[in-house]
Amino acid sequence: MKKSNDLSLPDFNAESVSHNDSPNESFSSVLDTRLSRRSVLRGGLASAAAAVFGSVGLSACGGGDDDDSASTPQAGATTEKLLGFQAVSKSLADTVVVPAGYTASVLYALGDPLRASTAAYKNDGTDTDFENRAGDHHDGMELYGLSSDGRPSTEIVDRGLLAINHEATTDERLSSHFLHVNGGTTTLPRPAAEIDKETAIHGISIIEVRKTANKWEYVQNSAFNSRLTALSDIEIAGPARGNALMVTKYSVNGTKTRGTLNNCGTGKTPWGTFLSGEENWFGYFVRGTTDDAARGNDKSVVSLRRYGRTQGQASRHGWESGGTDDKYARWNISKLGVSTNGSDDYRNEMNGMGYIIEVDPYDKSRSAKKRTALGRYAHESASFGKAVPGQPLAIYMGDDARNEYIYKFVSAATWTAADATPTDRMTTGDRFLDAGKLYVAKFNADGGGQWIELSITNPAIAAYATYAFADQADVVVNARLAGDAVGATKMDRPEWSGVNPLNGEIYFTLTNNSDRRVEPTTSSQRGVDSANPRAYTDVRGSTTQSGNVNGHILRVKEGPAGNSALTFTWDVYMFGAESAANPDLVNLSKLTGEQDFSSPDGLVFSPATGICWVQTDDGAYTDVTNCMMLAALPGQVGDGQKLTLNYTKTAGGTLAIDTYVGKNPTPETLKRFLVGTPGCEVTGLVETSDGKTMFVNIQHPGENTALANINDPSKYTSQWPGNAGYGAGRRPRSATIVITKNDGGRIGT
Ligand code: FEO
Ligand code: CA
Ligand code: CA
Repeated sequence: MKKSNDLSLPDFNAESVSHNDSPNESFSSVLDTRLSRRSVLRGGLASAAAAVFGSVGLSACGGGDDDDSASTPQAGATTEKLLGFQAVSKSLADTVVVPAGYTASVLYALGDPLRASTAAYKNDGTDTDFENRAGDHHDGMELYGLSSDGRPSTEIVDRGLLAINHEATTDERLSSHFLHVNGGTTTLPRPAAEIDKETAIHGISIIEVRKTANKWEYVQNSAFNSRLTALSDIEIAGPARGNALMVTKYSVNGTKTRGTLNNCGTGKTPWGTFLSGEENWFGYFVRGTTDDAARGNDKSVVSLRRYGRTQGQASRHGWESGGTDDKYARWNISKLGVSTNGSDDYRNEMNGMGYIIEVDPYDKSRSAKKRTALGRYAHESASFGKAVPGQPLAIYMGDDARNEYIYKFVSAATWTAADATPTDRMTTGDRFLDAGKLYVAKFNADGGGQWIELSITNPAIAAYATYAFADQADVVVNARLAGDAVGATKMDRPEWSGVNPLNGEIYFTLTNNSDRRVEPTTSSQRGVDSANPRAYTDVRGSTTQSGNVNGHILRVKEGPAGNSALTFTWDVYMFGAESAANPDLVNLSKLTGEQDFSSPDGLVFSPATGICWVQTDDGAYTDVTNCMMLAALPGQVGDGQKLTLNYTKTAGGTLAIDTYVGKNPTPETLKRFLVGTPGCEVTGLVETSDGKTMFVNIQHPGENTALANINDPSKYTSQWPGNAGYGAGRRPRSATIVITKNDGGRIGT
């Protein structure tokens, strides 16, 4: 998504607007003493002065050949040291920086052709045919091994299918800078030809990638290549399929919809399919200025407002203005028809977005499915608890908007070993993803917590005064309202989740929250609590930002029942902070200059090495460094200490907030591995199963380029990857990069 903390964000981005005004309680600060060991602060570390080499846009820097932790060229197993690389320094350069001994190269950028017959990308705003090109804003990503006869393989490490989310496009006032000649049209109505490009660059890519003669490339003419866009036909699956809430002019029986939007985090199912989270979809729709009255101010208005669409609010790109064709009209979700059920207009269209969708990467003939049982909200990643034969599966998910919730889905079906290699992957998906229980998290001040089931049989939901739920489909479609009803904990923007393969603990990035306050003064602000304990001010350049500016990473240990546990314990693995920030209220994890970061977003555990990779999408520390990626070796819930934050209140006196923070990282357990280009977010990460090739996405380089400067590349905030020798032109392009270790070792050693 866009720069997380940017105060100038327009209001169609979920991050910028809190729609959660429900009065769920903050925590009391009554606590047991759980762990009281005082941490021993580390001594200072010499700053690694990592030089950026040369003028190419992908650079190796940092330590030299004398790095005693380098793995051997043979196998690396006996001498390799996890996090043995030399940390890279913070950087503002227009280049992707990786440690010495590593190589990064560009693989697949915005506009790259997916058919032999599609022309090379000119990158000057004249390109068309985006249904057959890479989409924009590469985000979450998964890899599916491919055998020589085109079948799924978990062993193959030199050929596979990459499934890549294309979240959005770099924009300013309706238009998209880099897709159109002169930057495109910034007033309504917008030309259909521009809209057609923009709908096509959203969605998902499936591309074949292959290593030939030690070089990774995507295969332009592969029969596996495919795209889903904002207009693709997609099935509704799960409890909401066929429900009255899903009826539209396009699907009068409520069983399908068009398109997937703002695809952000991802998941890989244990049966080999791709999961993609629809995040900030609501901003693409528009309602007329009198639509509340047209709807008779019925409960749909409550739902629309809770999900970020007030009447008269402008849409992000004005796609509804392209003409009378249905593919434009469907973005106007006003009640315009005369039917009682919505079968003659698009009043229910927004209920078709906001899901985890499942895609079979190996078979493009199979329809993608929106798995409504997992709830409708601003989805990020979907991470699976350990698949244990005889037990249900658990999927952990966050809702990325200020003061939204963390969720868990537990399947009704139980896992068997044979489910890992099904003959029909989508049918296996039906079994595990369409029936089960959806829970929301409540974090208690004593370091424990509950998973509260979102069920129509729960009296708090069935009798909720704010919104009259009709049935279980209504509960999952309006999961946020159900979470409000049961008093779930309002979090600091839950982004990705990841499950530690070593111990099964679940990590959640909470990227930041500009609405967190010690003493709230507006209806959208929330007070600090144990799981979201920080609120402070930070200066970026000449701008002051308030709230939980730098974000934190929370982790959960399930109770003895594992995947189906209803209780858990938690602590904060790490707090993001600038290394020089106040150690008592801000830099609580005592990060050093080699480790400090802001706004954690992507989080992926490597199945090969167990390294926890943390990626940032920051708007707070970007006066000092571009966004980055760190490698971490975390411990476990409870390995740190209880901390009490003492805030001074305006009227005098102190507010004491207790929290739990994990063991402080050391140079051996947290290290900066990569720094991206100006304006970019670093996101999406997947490795080959041997851990020796890593794919990472650089999203929206040059994002803050002013539209007025579209014809002056010298004023672009980034010219990457053109400046790295990849492709034509200097307009910046989101891209997937490949990282390998020069000695053939595993990534992160
Ligand atoms: Fe698309 Fe919340 O990041
Ligand atoms: Ca700062
Ligand atoms: Ca994200």
